[in-house]
Amino acid sequence: MKKVLVTGGLGFIGSHTVVNLIEEKYDVVIIDNLFNSKLEVLDRIEQITGVRPKFYQFDVQNISKLDEVFKNEKPDVIIHFAGYKAVGESCKKPLMYYKNNLESSFALIEMMEKYNCKNIVFSSSATVYGIPKKVPLTEEDPVQSSTSPYGETKVMIERILEDESKVHPEFNICLLRYFNPIGAHKSGLLGEDPNGIPNNLLPYINKVAVGKLDCVHVFGNDYPTVDGTGVRDYIHVCDLAKGHVLSLNKLKENPGLCIYNLGTGKGTSVLEIIKLYEEATGVKIPYVIDPRRDGDVAINYASNEKAKKELGFNCDFDVKQACLDGYNYQVAEEKRTKK
Ligand code: WQD
Repeated sequence: MKKVLVTGGLGFIGSHTVVNLIEEKYDVVIIDNLFNSKLEVLDRIEQITGVRPKFYQFDVQNISKLDEVFKNEKPDVIIHFAGYKAVGESCKKPLMYYKNNLESSFALIEMMEKYNCKNIVFSSSATVYGIPKKVPLTEEDPVQSSTSPYGETKVMIERILEDESKVHPEFNICLLRYFNPIGAHKSGLLGEDPNGIPNNLLPYINKVAVGKLDCVHVFGNDYPTVDGTGVRDYIHVCDLAKGHVLSLNKLKENPGLCIYNLGTGKGTSVLEIIKLYEEATGVKIPYVIDPRRDGDVAINYASNEKAKKELGFNCDFDVKQACLDGYNYQVAEEKRTKK
């Protein structure tokens, strides 16, 4: 299993995973339509690893171009990141999310059948658990309809892959359910820098830290949690990337269908994050308390025991390090764009 086709490989999690794959001597081919990423990331991957992975710029839904890539590259395994991922936007544009995220997955599965590519890792999400009845969440907890069309696409694609696994026992399918990916590569060359006002907490804090936004708006402090603010499982994106590379080892054992949570196993509240961020960076992060955000749950964090046991997964970085790495990336990005 040498050649890995990474869809969305220039995105936040995709690019960090590509760096790990190259470091583990995999032969990486990327497909990305640059909808939510930049071609410059390819230069940065080369700068970090000394290797420039082969890159195809098109939308995964383009079945004729996808067929060409499978015919010419003959990938052994697919890591499928490509997809729209903004929860709030998906509530405003459901059809765009269902079409894009499902059609791209259908195209890949058709190619798997046509070219006998038996291995796929799918970028799923904790959101498939819906509103958790208990925490920490384990892989045995029921998949429930999600609170957004974005989350529903993850539920549906998981189900499609599970059904594919029943008719293709030779397929090895790994569903990775991420919790809250944060941080950036230690080089400051890769990270998350969403356009416009960030929806997620850490990119928002990063912009406050570099003075691009004035203060953090904490969405509610009346939840039944340690300090009333939302609790989540924040995992360093480099630990998440490592989890993907470990899942490839699992696929080599021909496991059929396997499912893993990728989280730290610990919950951190919004106010605790702000405090850790200030301690890590020395930057004061002003905030105000706003009303709750629709669709938010109070607490959501993972049990990662199954990934630890079956993948040999563990977290090398804590939340504080992720805050510092994310901040350093933001500072570096500001300098680069100011040039
Ligand atoms: C985290 C906490 C907010 C912003 C989402 C998706 C999930 C996954 C990760 C894709 C919550 C609070 C946030 C802000 C705040 N994405 N918050 N002020 O909602 O846990 O998960 O991103 O797979 O599918 O649902 O992440 O970072 O938006 O929120 O107080 O400006 O921070 O209420 O408690 P979330 P988030």
